[in-house]
Amino acid sequence: MTDSQYAWPAHDSADVVILGAGPAGLVLGNLLLRAGIDCAILERSGLECVRTRARAGFLAANTVRILARHGLDEGLRRYGQEHRVCEFRTEGGRFRLDYGRLGSKDPHTVYPQHELVADLLTQFLDAGGRIRFDTEAVAVSDADGPAPSVTVREADGRTGRWRARYVAACDGRHGAGRRSVPPGAVRHYRRDHGVSWLGLLAEAPPSLDAVGYALHPHGYAGHMARSAEITRYYLQCARGTRADTWSEDRVWDALDLRMRAAEYGPLSRGRLVQRAVVDLASDVLEPLRHGALFLVGDAAALISPSAAKGANLAVLEAEILAQGLTAALREGDPTALDAYSDRCLAHIWRAQEFSHWMIGLLHETPAPQGAPPFQERLRRSRISALRDSPTQQDWFAENYVGI
Ligand code: APR
Repeated sequence: MTDSQYAWPAHDSADVVILGAGPAGLVLGNLLLRAGIDCAILERSGLECVRTRARAGFLAANTVRILARHGLDEGLRRYGQEHRVCEFRTEGGRFRLDYGRLGSKDPHTVYPQHELVADLLTQFLDAGGRIRFDTEAVAVSDADGPAPSVTVREADGRTGRWRARYVAACDGRHGAGRRSVPPGAVRHYRRDHGVSWLGLLAEAPPSLDAVGYALHPHGYAGHMARSAEITRYYLQCARGTRADTWSEDRVWDALDLRMRAAEYGPLSRGRLVQRAVVDLASDVLEPLRHGALFLVGDAAALISPSAAKGANLAVLEAEILAQGLTAALREGDPTALDAYSDRCLAHIWRAQEFSHWMIGLLHETPAPQGAPPFQERLRRSRISALRDSPTQQDWFAENYVGI
């Protein structure tokens, strides 16, 4: 690709060009601004889309500590709800774990991710941060050479280029960051868990004062409070299910059945305002760096939503990268960036292992035709251990909230 192929509108530049304005990109941008580092965020979507996209909502205690450490926690301190109990409903009855009193004794903070993103965006703009919406990164070039740059396409189709000393790819799993790492330069670990969920957002108050995990012969069902009026539900569904094929009645009937509403009380029904099918999959790239290009958040690793770790990892990685970039650009010590990949990967693999354990806990693994369901018996034993063993409960709590 040569310059002459493009009518460059401008040669924009920043010391750090950040791709993507999700939790990873916005935390990084805010921390770099506070350290006095010249940075700019390029975001494919428009402002309204970024501010209103409903996503995850469970913040780990360490995420809250990171945001508090940098003065980015005002909204979540004011409006976040502390959450410390989960309830398992199984064929053998139900039990609760007050995980806020177990293990590391940390609660979750429930704060809808789009609110957090809106807060981070406001802080970034108020501090004079540069952000270009409707600007899609197409490719990162020369990341391991003397003149790294990012090719962009604006909403009107015009292309341009940003020069950078460092590029932070916070643009998710399908972003330009990942695509720009040459195939031979990274190992790509992946796992398809073979399970799908219908993810639902209901305009309905939470039905129980706990995170609910229902294990049922028809499949897993999950209940997670988002706010006093909004609740997220998950229903395991067959691979290939289309999100719109289940009617609202069918959804609520299945939730009632799997959550055992007949035994434990009815669910508060409401309009389903968002639905999407998620095929549970995980992947990790190693290393998380190619020259001047760093992978952060979902661009670094995709984690199945079974343990709500994605946004928490993204914030932690953004803080680690901000420390390295600050040392490199302010103190002239680029070796500080050498540890980025290994430090993040230790946390990523820990979270992957726990998510994988949760997937095993929540879903039946079908036995081969005619064979006794060995795997299912193991799963029942795992649930009993979690119900009965204080040591197992401490381990669960530490991993459930920990990052
Ligand atoms: N160029 C510019 N921006 C892009 C591009 C691109 N080519 N591709 C994607 N983006 C933007 C998206 O529009 C989005 O705003 O990058 C941002 C990525 O944000 P997230 O998907 O939220 O990813 P991340 O910041 O890594 O957060 C990770 O948050 O939503 C949770 O659980 C989810 O695991 C995920 C976690």
